[in-house]
Amino acid sequence: MALQRHDEVVLLLGAPGAGKGTQARYLATVLGVPHVASGDLLRENRQRGTDLGRAAEAYMDRGELVPDDLVVDMIARRLDAPDAVRGALLDGFPRTLGQFSALEDRLVERGGRVRNAIYVEVPTKVLVERLAGRWMCRTCHTTYHEEFNPPSSEGVCDVCSGELFQRPDDRRDVVANRVNVYLRDTLPVVKRFEQRGLLRRIDGNRPIQVVRAALHQALGLSEGVRA
Ligand code: AP5
Ligand code: MG
Ligand code: ZN
Repeated sequence: MALQRHDEVVLLLGAPGAGKGTQARYLATVLGVPHVASGDLLRENRQRGTDLGRAAEAYMDRGELVPDDLVVDMIARRLDAPDAVRGALLDGFPRTLGQFSALEDRLVERGGRVRNAIYVEVPTKVLVERLAGRWMCRTCHTTYHEEFNPPSSEGVCDVCSGELFQRPDDRRDVVANRVNVYLRDTLPVVKRFEQRGLLRRIDGNRPIQVVRAALHQALGLSEGVRA
């Protein structure tokens, strides 16, 4: 397999429901790199009934993390695809210190670097409300919210006309576990990026367009670019 150089890796970190997916799709377009979301890739594998999808299923439905070796291998393969030759916008990875080290090793090996790790901060009680009202497209993974970001036509994706569904792990009891897992396993990753001087904190508890503008600024992108 040919080695690729990833010199523009940008990471979106944040709790479940912080708005990573909502912002990532747009930001990836602006940055000209693919949006690589570990959760979306795992759900795709489940839909296709792959070995990885079957192995991941029980962890995901309980709100637990899928084991590092499976996720690291999946992301490494995705980053080897030709469209990621100039980098990627990673959403939901790395999420453990083990995944952090695996990414770091890969970037050292290939001469790449993390340009920014953006941390979208949202209070826990807001997360629960967001996830309870979320609808997601089965085909292109675009996310909507019943109240905060509704689709033009109920149950139908604005982008691709795909069917919208509610994620089984958005049930209140599973959300509580996902938030706990996040605090236990992923906050140490956030701290690690902070120690490296790469972390940019964004207040995610504002309207979608305001958060988007703040992300633009944090990444040093020009304003006025439209999705
Ligand atoms: P994953 O799919 O990554 O889920 P998550 O991290 O829990 O994050 P979400 O996708 O729930 O939230 P989001 O921040 O993307 O929010 P969104 O933009 O949709 O992971 C799922 C599972 O896969 C994990 O539990 C685990 O099992 C497994 N997994 C994935 N990655 C893994 C890894 N690296 N290692 C191991 N296991 C892994 O927004 C949420 C809602 O809020 C939407 O309805 C949206 O419309 C609305 N909204 C967004 N922004 C705003 C705003 N500013 N104001 C009002 N509403 C807003
Ligand atoms: Mg997401
Ligand atoms: Zn769609």
